Amino acid sequence: MTKNLFIKTYGCQMNVYDSDRMAGILKPLGFAPVDAPDQADMVILNTCHIREKAAEKVFSELGRIRQMRDARRAGGEDMVIGVAGCVAQAEGQEIVRRAPFVDIVFGPQSYHRLPEMVARAARAAGQPILETDLEADEKFDNLPTDTETTGPAAFLTVQEGCDKFCSFCVVPYTRGAEFSRPARDILAEAKRLLAAGVVEITLLGQNVNAWHGEAPDGADWSLGRLIRELAGLDGLRRLRYTTSHPLEMTSDLIAAHGEVPELMPYLHLPVQAGSNRILEAMNRRHDRDTYFRIIDRLRESRPDLALSGDFIVGFPGESEKDFLQTLNLVERVGYAQAYSFKYSPRPGTPASALELQVPEDEKSDRLQRLQDLLNRQQLAFNQATAGKTLDVLLERPGRRDGQLVGRSPYMQAVHVSAPAHRIGSVAPVRIVEGKANSLSGIIDGNMTGEAA
Ligand code: SAH
Ligand code: SF4
Ligand code: F3S
Repeated sequence: MTKNLFIKTYGCQMNVYDSDRMAGILKPLGFAPVDAPDQADMVILNTCHIREKAAEKVFSELGRIRQMRDARRAGGEDMVIGVAGCVAQAEGQEIVRRAPFVDIVFGPQSYHRLPEMVARAARAAGQPILETDLEADEKFDNLPTDTETTGPAAFLTVQEGCDKFCSFCVVPYTRGAEFSRPARDILAEAKRLLAAGVVEITLLGQNVNAWHGEAPDGADWSLGRLIRELAGLDGLRRLRYTTSHPLEMTSDLIAAHGEVPELMPYLHLPVQAGSNRILEAMNRRHDRDTYFRIIDRLRESRPDLALSGDFIVGFPGESEKDFLQTLNLVERVGYAQAYSFKYSPRPGTPASALELQVPEDEKSDRLQRLQDLLNRQQLAFNQATAGKTLDVLLERPGRRDGQLVGRSPYMQAVHVSAPAHRIGSVAPVRIVEGKANSLSGIIDGNMTGEAA
């Protein structure tokens, strides 16, 4: 008998990848994914702890899920409730205390033990199970590597965890120490994705460019080398990787941007702040000039590289003068797209204990000013593509009938009129209009749509 599984995913792309693995490992137990929680035999919230708002969402969602379980129980059925991800890792005890009706609380390094936990939950009825071991080495060997999500673009985790310890960030505590998967496993997983019809792979890691792994011949490969190997696989059209730390942008990786046509001209390279004083307090381990130099070298290697970033405003002690340095850095780099956040003090991180926390209204004001600038840059970048022809990977149906949505090489969403059977192909699209968050265009009629 099939059982309904509902997984709700919060946070970053790695959680999306992990949710897919969880669905995979539960499949042999008869679980099949459904789109809504109310009729689910098992609900898993795959959570994010990065900012306070993200973490708090989990508790309100759990309240709603509990009501759904009560309704099911009233009808003679049941529901297993699990909390996975970074909130489970960081606040496992707190979840058990605040939401004792949860059956399983398990962190990112224990997903391979999910079937065993489900069995234990059935026996332990009413007694929450807590699994927050942080050893990374067993996990990948014991998770299914076939993707459950079908589509032409897929994620592939190559690295997990972080040893950087930026003073504001929970990731080193929720994901554990940096761990790189061996190249052999990554190549095998990539081949399976390609065989299943995937044409674009995004390599994932909290510090993806710190990846270095044992090659099939025993040598130690860098990410640049891995990218070259992956690019040579049959059927692979596009490669991306995220998220990178500026200090791990090696010469080899920078060169790959100029030399590997499959590596897309888009890079998410967070800098967080533009003031050297704040960068130091954040423990980012580099200054603004180092960042500028890396950007210059990347653009020498690949002149049309589009850049994306993450920014935090209102880090403790950030003055107006410091903040102006962030605006200045943004002006100087020019981003195609970026994420920006108000600093959120996270329990257990060094920055949360600092004095001189910036008042909330000041944070809001700075965020507004930064986002105004970033939005102007993004719009200008999108508008500049009008009249050009870009290769667009058609990924999925759009909202309107007969419309498909795809991605440009620069990660822009592109809307075109095209029949559904074109999904999965890379089509040359003449861009008609660039808007704030997307482009629209027409497929170039003279082409087959299969051209690179
Ligand atoms: N290197 C990581 C970064 C994860 S966190 C990765 O793989 O994506 C994503 C972004 O969240 C960070 O770059 C940072 O800009 C932001 N962030 C992290 N901790 C934060 C905090 N305490 N308050 C506000 N933003 C935060
Ligand atoms: Fe967090 Fe810094 Fe590690 Fe990124 S590099 S995950 S921001 S500690
Ligand atoms: Fe959030 Fe954990 Fe990802 S804290 S951003 S889900 S690594």
